[in-house]
Amino acid sequence: MPEQTQAAATPQQQLHRAQIEALAPWFHNMWLDGIRTAPEHFLGDYPHVKYIRFRDTLPADMRGKTVLDIGCNAGFYSMEMKRRGADRVLGIDTDNRYLAQARLAAGINGLDIEFRRMSIWDVGSLGERFDLVIFMGVLYHLRHPLLALDLLHEHVCRDMFLFQSLQRGQEVIEKVEPDYGFDETAVFDRPGYPKMHFIEDRYCGDPTNWWLPNRACTEAMLRSAGFNILAHPEEEVYLCERAQLSPGSEHSVYPSAGIRPGAR
Ligand SMILES: C[S@@+](CC[C@H](N)C(=O)[O-])C[C@H]1O[C@@H](n2cnc3c(N)ncnc32)[C@H](O)[C@@H]1O
Repeated sequence: MPEQTQAAATPQQQLHRAQIEALAPWFHNMWLDGIRTAPEHFLGDYPHVKYIRFRDTLPADMRGKTVLDIGCNAGFYSMEMKRRGADRVLGIDTDNRYLAQARLAAGINGLDIEFRRMSIWDVGSLGERFDLVIFMGVLYHLRHPLLALDLLHEHVCRDMFLFQSLQRGQEVIEKVEPDYGFDETAVFDRPGYPKMHFIEDRYCGDPTNWWLPNRACTEAMLRSAGFNILAHPEEEVYLCERAQLSPGSEHSVYPSAGIRPGAR
């Protein structure tokens, strides 16, 4: 959205400004009723600046589609999908303040979206699959990232999967053989080998940052969890489709959590 100039505030804008400020700080820097939610944001016009780099890979017309936005924060992507006509959009997040921001933003924008407090670990309880699952900026905040991808594949993804993760390390992708002998050690030091960096304490001052994959690892994890990569429109963003896992390639992941019991 182009920069907007601040006109003299109407009583309704004064109310909205007070509501926006009462819910600060905002991670999603949006214009609501002509008011910036996070004017000092360290990433500037975020997430809009990111969205414009990949939005054309998503269907312009989402009528007839359902959307689940996981870690929806203040609802930027939920609202964009509703604006494209999605029949139903559900945004979930664990943080009540972010959910309050999302409800306020959708209300100001006149968009009918459901926002619910729910963790990704509980998506199985939804008992519903969605045409588009959005999983942007959440993976590296989780202690068990591959389990999260497995849960999404198993329980809520029907078709499209929009994924983003912070990445660190080399961007190079190298061919990795399906198997290596015990004596092969050098391959693990190659820059294109899939690597996940574990953060024991914090990164960028944030103790909820647990893992930072390199690009090869991001792509390998998506494939391993049963997602075909359709597009990579932005360095951190992938549009995938849910693939059927062939029985022989199923991964053994915590059968007690109800996920794909079976041999690798
Ligand atoms: C970096 S923000 C990304 C927000 C938004 N998806 C985006 O891309 O702009 C991470 C979000 O994930 C939420 N989150 C963290 N752990 C979660 C969990 N276990 N289940 C659901 N949401 C979670 C946080 O509260 C936060 O809103």
